[in-house]
Amino acid sequence: MACRGPVIVLVLSFLALAVRVANCLTCTTQKLTSSGLYSTCIDLPTLGSTLHFSYDAKNSSAAVAFVAAPSKSGGWVSWALNPTDMGMVGCQALIAFKDASTGTMVVKTYNVSSYGPLEESKISFEVWDMAAEESAADGTMRIYTMIKVPGDASHLNQVWQVGPSVTDGVPDKHGFANDNLASKGTLNLVAGQSSGTTGDSRLQNKKIHGILNVVSWGILFPLGIVLARYLRVFPSADPAWFYLHVFCQLSAYVIGVAGWGTGLKLGAESKGIVYSLHRNIGIGVFCLATVQMFALLMRPKKDHKYRCYWNIYHHATGYSILVLGILNVFKGYDILRPAEKWKSAYIIAIAILAGLAFLLEVVTWIVVIKRRTKKSTPSYDASYNGQNMQDSTAL
Ligand SMILES: *[C@@H]1O[C@H](CO)[C@@H](O)[C@H](O)[C@H]1NC(C)=O
Ligand SMILES: *[C@@H]1O[C@H](CO)[C@@H](O)[C@H](O)[C@H]1NC(C)=O
Repeated sequence: MACRGPVIVLVLSFLALAVRVANCLTCTTQKLTSSGLYSTCIDLPTLGSTLHFSYDAKNSSAAVAFVAAPSKSGGWVSWALNPTDMGMVGCQALIAFKDASTGTMVVKTYNVSSYGPLEESKISFEVWDMAAEESAADGTMRIYTMIKVPGDASHLNQVWQVGPSVTDGVPDKHGFANDNLASKGTLNLVAGQSSGTTGDSRLQNKKIHGILNVVSWGILFPLGIVLARYLRVFPSADPAWFYLHVFCQLSAYVIGVAGWGTGLKLGAESKGIVYSLHRNIGIGVFCLATVQMFALLMRPKKDHKYRCYWNIYHHATGYSILVLGILNVFKGYDILRPAEKWKSAYIIAIAILAGLAFLLEVVTWIVVIKRRTKKSTPSYDASYNGQNMQDSTAL
């Protein structure tokens, strides 16, 4: 089977991803001075940071410990809530660093109102029992604090950051790498109340989720589209292209639904962090693909008068799945952040597929034009070869 060879190679190379996703999560290994205080720990998606917390719904207070390593020794780490917005401006930040004059760790509060130099100030919610420490063992800095939770404890905007240096008691500006810009998200202190799966099995589930969805929406679906679009120009590939297409898309759908299910499970278990866009695209892609499966059952005969409407609907849905599926794979890479090479491997795979599609597009045009010249029907509408391909060979 022409479809199976490349598919198996791709599946194998992405299974390898399972074994090698960067093993950088720390919730399971981290020891805090007062870890008994915190019921929940989440590994934040960037900057190797973790957040430990316990939420007390009775008086909406929370005990929080933030752990991260500054970008250079002698730098600073920061954890903030932003009651008004998602970005840095408006952040009510706690920043920890080593006070140069005394040599001890301090934690200070900052009302970040601009991108300018930071100035210590009061913040908009109550904080008490603040403390900071530096771990000699791993170079991380820890911020401990109690907070009076401002607003809806299940939907807080949190921002975290690390910086390289402190000048005259003022934290210097942080780097602007992707990790520094992506270090924000929604924090749900309430969901953290129920203890869920342990960090290890969650990491395992995330890997499985990643592999299933990359293979399905990221590779098999696009491959199935390429097969259908280009193989059917060749009369000898009829009806083989149809069965290959159905085989690819059905396997993609089965794997994709499994991947989608693991995603829903991860979402339900997610203690604290919500990736709304990724989740919504995922649900959308699943719905479109399900509609597409019905398309297979409801396909009119090829000479039926409604067949052209069915074609438009089938193609529009298919191409939407193609675009959204690949987009969501990249969103997933940004969330899971495996070692850079796995993202590169996917980019190469998809680029090869795109290159192949481009080549076949050219070949198709040549074949179709030649066929028309032979038929010498000059009045024929030559503006859209796809239409001609359907006329001649669609089932
Ligand atoms: C909330 O309750 C906790 C534990 O009962 C207590 O330690 C804390 O001081 C209270 N916070 C406020 C703001 O009343
Ligand atoms: C923080 O700064 C903004 C802008 O300068 C100001 O409107 C706000 O009142 C400040 N918040 C606090 C708690 O001082």
